[in-house]
Amino acid sequence: MYILAIETSCDDTSVAIVENGRIIRSNVVSSQIETHQRFGGVVPEIASRKHVESITWILEEAVDQAQVSLQQLSAIAVTQGPGLVGSLLVGVMAGKALASALGLPLIGVHHIAGHIYANQLTHDLEYPLIALVVSGGHTELIHMEAPGRFHIIGRTRDDAAGEAYDKVARAMHLPYPGGPHMDRLAHEAEHAVTMPRAWLEPDSYDFSFSGLKSAVLNVVNQAKMRGEAVQTAQIAKGFQESVTEVLVEKASRAVREYGAKQLLLAGGVAANRGLRSKLAERCAELQVPLLLPPLSLCTDNAAMIGAAAFLKWDKREYAALDLKAEAQLDLEQW
Ligand code: KG4
Ligand code: ZN
Repeated sequence: MYILAIETSCDDTSVAIVENGRIIRSNVVSSQIETHQRFGGVVPEIASRKHVESITWILEEAVDQAQVSLQQLSAIAVTQGPGLVGSLLVGVMAGKALASALGLPLIGVHHIAGHIYANQLTHDLEYPLIALVVSGGHTELIHMEAPGRFHIIGRTRDDAAGEAYDKVARAMHLPYPGGPHMDRLAHEAEHAVTMPRAWLEPDSYDFSFSGLKSAVLNVVNQAKMRGEAVQTAQIAKGFQESVTEVLVEKASRAVREYGAKQLLLAGGVAANRGLRSKLAERCAELQVPLLLPPLSLCTDNAAMIGAAAFLKWDKREYAALDLKAEAQLDLEQW
């Protein structure tokens, strides 16, 4: 069976056709990065206007590339939330229009469920598992006992990991989004500027990155005040080591405590080379398989939405045509 999936929650317009929740027949992603770069971040009004401009040709392109006709589709899936409401609305309206014109069921998908199920496009999932979701808007540790059942055991109390990467990068005048540039610089540096780690209470799975962000801003400002060059690469290395160490420690503690059969990484920051290699080392020690999506499936794309939608299709959990885009959709109630 084929699901046509749409993702427009932030600044990427994407349409995919996924076969049986596992095989990508097409996955067209149009990034708006160049448009938002000059503002140093995503401008919501511009993002939704760009989605309107692109959605039709991306739909056509996805159908063409898949070599699947509209009549062969079994369902239309769309990201319902969370995200920027003006951006989500464009995808939701396109999804409803297609579902109603073709007489197909509509499936609303939670964006984070999509990031997690991106892993199912390349691996078999085994439960119970722990998912570490790290993106521009989310940092969550999730315990999953069964398919589609999400129990959030830890989350960020302030900035998301990707958000912290982007803000620190911006302070050092790196282009938006800063995560990939920080990752590259961290690998170029030999030495790291020592940065704090926020462990919080000993038994907590929560995260906090705002103290680390302030520490980086302090180092940058002090260098500027003294008229010295900002040691961008060393700072990036120190920042990355701090973020990675806390993520790896908490994720591996959760794997042990919940007896997880797999640790699964998801979200845009899952593309981070430092995080991928440290998690791989730790999982080898723990003898627990680490599931990493390929780089193209880490950042926002519609194939992951098609993969997650398959779960709901299997259970006939369809949405009504009055489905609403929700900026703050709850993963556990999804
Ligand atoms: O999942 P995503 O595409 O969008 C959201 O749902 O937020 O994640 C985007 C985030 C951005 O903050 C970006 O800087 C970060 O992922 N990111 C990275 C890397 N590649 C993307 N952060 C660190 N290292 C990377 N290599
Ligand atoms: Zn995302």
